[in-house]
Amino acid sequence: MEKQYGRITGWGSYVPSNIITNEDLEKIVDTSHEWIVRRTGIHQRHVVGPEETNATMSVAAAQAALDKANIHATDLDLIIHATTFQDHITPPTSSQVQHMLGAHNVPAFVLTTGCTGFVYGLSVAQQFIRTGAYRTILIIGSEIISRGLDWTDRSTCVLFGDAAAAMVMEACDEPCGLFGFDLGSDGSGYDKIIMPAGGAAEPVGADTFAAGRHYLQMNGSEVFKFASRVLGKSCYRSLARAEMTLDDIDWIVPHQANLRIIQAAARDMDLPLSRFITVVDRYGNTSAASIPLAICDAIAEGKIKPEDKLLLVSFGAGLTWASCVLQMAPRLEKVNVMADLTAVSQNIDSLAVTAL
Ligand code: UT7
Repeated sequence: MEKQYGRITGWGSYVPSNIITNEDLEKIVDTSHEWIVRRTGIHQRHVVGPEETNATMSVAAAQAALDKANIHATDLDLIIHATTFQDHITPPTSSQVQHMLGAHNVPAFVLTTGCTGFVYGLSVAQQFIRTGAYRTILIIGSEIISRGLDWTDRSTCVLFGDAAAAMVMEACDEPCGLFGFDLGSDGSGYDKIIMPAGGAAEPVGADTFAAGRHYLQMNGSEVFKFASRVLGKSCYRSLARAEMTLDDIDWIVPHQANLRIIQAAARDMDLPLSRFITVVDRYGNTSAASIPLAICDAIAEGKIKPEDKLLLVSFGAGLTWASCVLQMAPRLEKVNVMADLTAVSQNIDSLAVTAL
């Protein structure tokens, strides 16, 4: 069998219409627009309305990606749903997404590695395509973090936003898709981003509820240090596996958690910030949705072209990290139009002579 590559044929995103600005947050916690912008680069974030769920957001983004790929949900072989804040601890939200999309009996599963989920998901999808097991895979990154936040805790509530974004990966013979990836996990930082109660280790009870242990808690500065340590190294590992250097890369698309972390990565890699896609100002940290959302926006703005080589890099709960070199579509060879036209006209001339 020919080597199979995973071409990205569709992409789409969904953000709720409700926007919370830094000025809005000033009214509910002891913070300021100035502090938030200086420490994070975030200006606003989108937050779901009461009628929305992780599944409805995921379906909206997924449908946009399917439309772009010009396929139906029934054409899918697999759905990978990268998410942390599922609608229920069980069953998996992926099954509801599969049902709502009308992807009859298509296998679907949730992949939970925090903010790195989408890059993990891409690498998993590529393996199914490589082995020939599946040909058409939907990968979704989606989070409703706003429902897991303590809106009186200024150290977390200013940072996050809700969003979903998705891509369709289809088997393809020409080289494209993932050229190299690097995944990692350092469980010694397990408690650095955590919702302590609500799982099997600490079921929610009156005492945990009163103590707010069902909310997201984070040791921001430890996560910051972790990110600064791993981002550059992981990028270089992915590049080495792709047999490329930074010169081969058109854009770096980092996890959108904090502009200062992106600036630190740029310094670490000795690159100008202009080589990095940044949308953290308009969305905040949308966890597993952050990288595909940034790509969708950058394509819509004409920055990223599908044939560009992208270096994606992320970090998050676990603690985990993930990076990959992604070329969504193969680069089309430039056609020598004049040479082709000359050949066509010569053929027509010889046909005319033969006819005479
Ligand atoms: O996707 C992965 C998820 N996590 C992350 O990406 C988080 C990574 N970490 C960060 O982005 C940064 O560490 C934060 C933005 C969370 C915090 O920035 P920092 O520069 O590390 O600040 P800090 O935690 O060291 O806090 C500095 C001060 C503290 O006050 P004192 O103790 O110096 O008086 C905080 O209480 O800033 C205070 N502070 C705030 N002040 C105003 C913390 N949050 C706020 C706030 N507004 N929202």
